[in-house]
Amino acid sequence: MQQAEKKQRENWGSRFGFLMAAAGSAVGLGNIWRFPYLTGENGGGAFIVVYLICIVVVGLSIMTAEFAVGRRTGLAAVGAYKSQNKNWTFAGALGVLSGFFIMGFYPVVGGWSLAYMVKSVTGLLAAPEAIGDVFGGFIGAPVEPLAWMIVYLAINLVIVAKGIAGGIEKAGKVLMPTLFVLLLFIIFRSVSLPGAAAGLSFLFKPDWSAVNGSTVLAALGQAFFSLSLGMGCMITYGSYLNKKENLPSNALTVVAMDTSVAIMAGLAIFPALFAFGMEPTQGPGLVFVVVPSIFAAMGSIGTLFSVIFFAALTVAALTSSLSLMEVVVAYLIDEKSMPRKTATYLTSAIMAVMCVLSSLSLGVMSKVTVFGVGAFDFFDILTDKIFLAIGGMLLAIFVGWFMKKEDLKDELTNGGTVKFGLFEVWYNLVKFVIPVAIAVVAYFGITAIAQKSLMIFGLLIILVLAIFSKKL
Ligand code: TRP
Repeated sequence: MQQAEKKQRENWGSRFGFLMAAAGSAVGLGNIWRFPYLTGENGGGAFIVVYLICIVVVGLSIMTAEFAVGRRTGLAAVGAYKSQNKNWTFAGALGVLSGFFIMGFYPVVGGWSLAYMVKSVTGLLAAPEAIGDVFGGFIGAPVEPLAWMIVYLAINLVIVAKGIAGGIEKAGKVLMPTLFVLLLFIIFRSVSLPGAAAGLSFLFKPDWSAVNGSTVLAALGQAFFSLSLGMGCMITYGSYLNKKENLPSNALTVVAMDTSVAIMAGLAIFPALFAFGMEPTQGPGLVFVVVPSIFAAMGSIGTLFSVIFFAALTVAALTSSLSLMEVVVAYLIDEKSMPRKTATYLTSAIMAVMCVLSSLSLGVMSKVTVFGVGAFDFFDILTDKIFLAIGGMLLAIFVGWFMKKEDLKDELTNGGTVKFGLFEVWYNLVKFVIPVAIAVVAYFGITAIAQKSLMIFGLLIILVLAIFSKKL
């Protein structure tokens, strides 16, 4: 199996291919669906400033560290930790669990995006005043969103079962730039609407009174989520990378691409939102309501743009969810010697059940809660607010304290052949600053957040994993 993995790894050897794969994993629903609504819920500009600080100080360093661990060990998440130190297997296992949990709600939203491609041509845009209600009705329905989720998950299954991400990568190479151009176009439309200025000042005039511990934790969690960090995804991708690539500069490129797309999504949405007199705090429906409303005002060409937008969003989501599913599947293949097909079917079946619960929790099952939240929020909050950040903290501790400094330097400078002038800064950030910073943010975040018992439950899960991980 190891051998087969190695061969496959060489397939995406070119620099461009790798960048597209890593950027494909990073750029997804996190940027276009999640970032704008979190910004809206957390008061706008101030949240963005905190988010950017998290990206530069924590995200970029952790991305570099994950690439280094992956390429050094040549192994996926669990194996990478295990190969260095058996006691650390649990950190990899936590990543696999995070992958499962994220895939417990991500395909639900992926399904919405698929559905909106079709809805764009079947009358959604014809009644602009009803767009908000249509969304609310749709996601709470008992059957329709489930059907789309299953279609979305099935696409993932087929691609991961075949072990060839080639097709989707090709689609990504066309549709990701398309998404980029389309966002530029929407931004242009959005800022030229009468009343758009209020949206711009919401984005760029920070209101610091909106910031507290839970906002900072939300920003940190979003940084991890958006960059695909804290669960071993970028370790796995780093293991595919050949020895000639410059890791810090690749990390910088991926981070820059991901962050620009998020900011662009904000610029596309908020000016229009204020122009239409909508609420920034409407939550997960934001993109699905604002973007169609922009297109609805443009006549039949708007319909075409809307279809392309949701097609591009679906593909961006797919390149991300594939990477999530791959982390879980790679674990079962590498560590449990499961054939790829079996691993994929098993994984997908479990994810499908979780997604059914998540989707129903937004409608008919909204009264069924654990620790005060429904299934969708359960998976979302646990991963985004605890698991990823703790996963990132563990990685930083592992790299800073359990790997040799010379090895890291060797890996990040390709044996001294390329320059990494900021090595010492990076090293000290990873070794000292980041673990402490994450611990502090997590502490104040957890004490400020409404779902305290859920957070404590999450910490308990990590503890249990740490105790029983030797068996994994
Ligand atoms: N980054 C992706 C997005 O923004 C989601 C994602 C893919 C992810 N792989 C991940 C999140 C690994 C956390 C960890 O949509």
